[in-house]
Amino acid sequence: MSRLLHPLYSYKKNKLIYSGIDLANISLTPPTPFYLYSLDAVTKNVAAFRQAFAQTGIYDLLLCYALKANPNPHILGHVEQLGTGADIVSKGELTAATQAKISPDKIVFSGVGKTKEEILQALNTGANGIRAFNVESLEELQLIAECAKELNKVARVAFRFNPSIKAPTHHLISTGNKSHKFGLLPKDILSALPLFKSRQLYRQHLKLVGLSVHIGSQLLTFHASKKAFRALASLALTISETTNRPLEFLDVGGGLGIGYHHHTMPFTPFQTYAHAVKLGLTSYLNQYPTQVVCEPGRCIVGNAGIFITRIVRIKKSGPYTFLVVDGGMNDFARPALYQAHHEIYPLIKRPGPTFKANVVGPVCETSDCFAEGRTFTPVHVGDYLAIADTGAYGHSMASFYNLRALPAELVIDSAKQETSLYQAVLTSR
Ligand code: LLP
Repeated sequence: MSRLLHPLYSYKKNKLIYSGIDLANISLTPPTPFYLYSLDAVTKNVAAFRQAFAQTGIYDLLLCYALKANPNPHILGHVEQLGTGADIVSKGELTAATQAKISPDKIVFSGVGKTKEEILQALNTGANGIRAFNVESLEELQLIAECAKELNKVARVAFRFNPSIKAPTHHLISTGNKSHKFGLLPKDILSALPLFKSRQLYRQHLKLVGLSVHIGSQLLTFHASKKAFRALASLALTISETTNRPLEFLDVGGGLGIGYHHHTMPFTPFQTYAHAVKLGLTSYLNQYPTQVVCEPGRCIVGNAGIFITRIVRIKKSGPYTFLVVDGGMNDFARPALYQAHHEIYPLIKRPGPTFKANVVGPVCETSDCFAEGRTFTPVHVGDYLAIADTGAYGHSMASFYNLRALPAELVIDSAKQETSLYQAVLTSR
């Protein structure tokens, strides 16, 4: 009998099945800790994302997968096959996107600190450079124009707008307040518009093609997002009226959250989100046939990965029981950084009374703790635990802290019946 915990998790004969994968069969492959990704789950998320938009009537959608969530080359190759573009923030991500054959005209480049070297690389990617630089300051706009002149090219630019809106999420992953480093205030964007005519450098080497906004990540309610999208549409209307030209695209950023709490919300609210985008952008889309660009990361790969770690010790101390595991905060940082909740499932469910424990890693930091006071069925030293929903911002945020090796990544492609092992090494910049 299999008991469903979540659309992707169930136990069959007390063995954990994740995304159709019988973990008992593969758990011994790489040494623990390691990440395991299901390409099948990625495919379903991309399809659900697109379908939700199609249902709102938005058909001209460019899904630019945010590489920062998970740049594993097999994942990138897979999303490329699914026809997605990329949202990148560094030359490393640009290289990874092009190596995965993601078409340059589907790449948008965000980030407040783009260097000259990175801008030149992006301008030199493909025959016409990338789809757009999402420009975060007027100083950056000037540098992009100078770089384009140096190469005798035209840079496609979109302003990233800061709507001064507080996002309903953890304060460390909120990006749309006035006090945040991201984006440009509307008055600064409007002040730059005349320069596209008056300044020869801009006239010859810049093309304004879009407007973008991104107010934060792990959003599950969309009131603030809708407000930001409305403001985006209204600013876009002003820009188009001023320049007498429609924008090629409106970029609504990423941010769609996933259900990390399996008992209360085991799903991703794709439809509610797409609806908020549609409602927010209506004033512009009614007037101009414009492409909608999205930069989702977490909702594409978050639930498509698990982190597998082994219990190395069961330590009792006063009223506490610690399951000390071989994975640490250097491998998976979200709980330590944002007190993030992730479900934890033993690969084998043993019969017997349940107990409460804290799951901690071996790193010398008190914050190296994956869960506190969680209920477990009986476990033994050597047992495997799966930390759920670790496909996004898991391996991509791993470090060498305490001189620990980076964890391996195992990618399962059920459709092709293929398994690929990937061991990242830190390359020099
Ligand atoms: N676009 C821009 C400009 C972004 O800054 C981000 C994420 C995304 C797209 C993708 O957002 P998503 O769809 O994944 O929410 N490390 C944190 C998340 C940081 C997100 C940074 N920016 C975490 O583990 O929760």
